This record gives sequence, structure tokens and C-alpha cells, in this order.
Amino acid sequence: MSITLKTPEEIEKMRIAGQLAGEVLDYITPFVKTGISTEELDRLCHDYMVDIQGCIPAPLNYAPPGYKPYPKSICTSINHQVCHGVPGDKLLKNGDIVNLDITVIKNGYHGDTSRMFQLGETSIQAKRLCELTFECLWLGIMQVRPGGHLGDIGNAIQKHAESSGCSVVREFCGHGIGAKFHEDPQVVHYGQRGTGVEIKTGMIFTIEPMINAGKAGIRELADGWTIVTKDHSLSAQWEHTILVTETGFEVLTMSAASRLKPDWIK
Ligand code: MF3
Ligand code: CO
Ligand code: CO
Repeated sequence: MSITLKTPEEIEKMRIAGQLAGEVLDYITPFVKTGISTEELDRLCHDYMVDIQGCIPAPLNYAPPGYKPYPKSICTSINHQVCHGVPGDKLLKNGDIVNLDITVIKNGYHGDTSRMFQLGETSIQAKRLCELTFECLWLGIMQVRPGGHLGDIGNAIQKHAESSGCSVVREFCGHGIGAKFHEDPQVVHYGQRGTGVEIKTGMIFTIEPMINAGKAGIRELADGWTIVTKDHSLSAQWEHTILVTETGFEVLTMSAASRLKPDWIK
């Protein structure tokens, strides 16, 4: 595969898909309460995407090489689950943290975004990890400009995570996105400044750091999808889809209820 620079027409479609993905998260937010199952969240999001938005939920039956088709419409990753958590009958409970990851397809183009949610009273460590990971996302985004390198993004994220004693998951990364769910380039969340692919105007890719409170190691569950931390430590993730503009970036997955960039990040 190769990295495509999007045309103005494609960019407009990606703006729409990104906005819709963000709006699914806005819609589901009031339902993310203790006592609801992740299966119910999946059903609500599925029906909203299909019936209200006229979108296709990209995860449903998604089957990259070596994977069996993903069985649900969203990913719900709880506590020590890193990513690709499969919705099921387990109920969310007080103290849980959960990532909801939404990818929609609208008019053939993808929008991909995820947020963390905290259920009731969470531990100080859980709060800190969710906050730190959100900061990592924005530190990464702020590195995006034509002429920069993907290593600038990874380096900003890695430095912030590791300086707080947390670790960056290596096996999963951000990705180019457009008419396909996962395109080149891979956007890893660690690395050295000035290394890696040069960032160019018209690229669209996700930044989606997965940060563990403990060690970086992960393993896959027997369902063939759910990824968990090897040491069972908590893991958090936030994701946006980013367009590279002539002056820097545009976040395509912002919606009304998106959290804004922390003020201290310049
Ligand atoms: N949304 C995830 C990402 O950010 C990918 C999920 S693939 C699925 O890349 F099949 F698990 F949905
Ligand atoms: Co993604
Ligand atoms: Co995603």
C-alpha cells in the first residue's frame, strides 16, 4: 500500500464522516452509566449509526488478514482491556473506566474516534491515566504540520507517558484512513523526533495512543479480538482523525461535546 494525499472532494467527505463519528460518542454519552451492558451500548450505537445517521458501522464484520470477522458495531474496552474489546453481557460497574471506539462509513469514507468514560467513583490512578492519555493525544496532535515527521508525534506521546511512569503499547498504532478503514502510514505512538515518514498536506491519519499504567506488554484473548495488558494493569486510549493542512492540522472528529485541548498544551 502507499500513502495517499486526499483530494478536496475526499477531504469534504472525510469531514462529514469524522463529524458523524464524533456525534455517535456525543449521543451515547448519557447512556454510559453503571448497570448498562456493553452489548446494549453497541445496540444503541448501531441503531443510531444506521437508522439516524444513514452510516455503516465499520467494525461490523471487519476482517483484516488473519482475523475472524469482528462481531459487533463498536469496540468497548474496559479497565485492563487495551483495545478491540468486544461488547457483551457484562454490566458496567462503579469504578470502571471504558473506552468506546466508533468508526462510521458515510458515502464510502471513514471517520474514527474514541473517548474514555469513567463510571461513578474511579481510583486516583484511573483518573490520572485517563487524563494523561488525553494529554498524550493532544501532545501528538500538536506536532502535526507539513514538513514534520511521524516520529515527532510518537516522541511527544512517549515522553509524556513515560515521564509519568506509564508505558506506550507498541503493537497497535494510528493509521491512514479514507476510503479504507486502515491505510498507510502507520502512526506509532513512540519514537524519535525527525524520523519516520514526512508529514504532507492532504494526509489524513488517526492518532490513538494506548497507554498502560503498568508495563507495555499485551496479549490477545481467546475471542481473537480483545487485547488486554499482560500485567493486568489499567489501560486507556483516546483517538481522533486528523487532516494535515498547509498550516498544521484540522481535527475531523470534533463534535459538540468533544473535550477541548488542554490549555497548557501549546
Ligand atoms: N477503531 C479501531 C481503530 O481505531 C479499529 C477497530 S477494528 C475492529 O483502528 F474490528 F475491532 F472494530
Ligand atoms: Co483508528
Ligand atoms: Co478507532
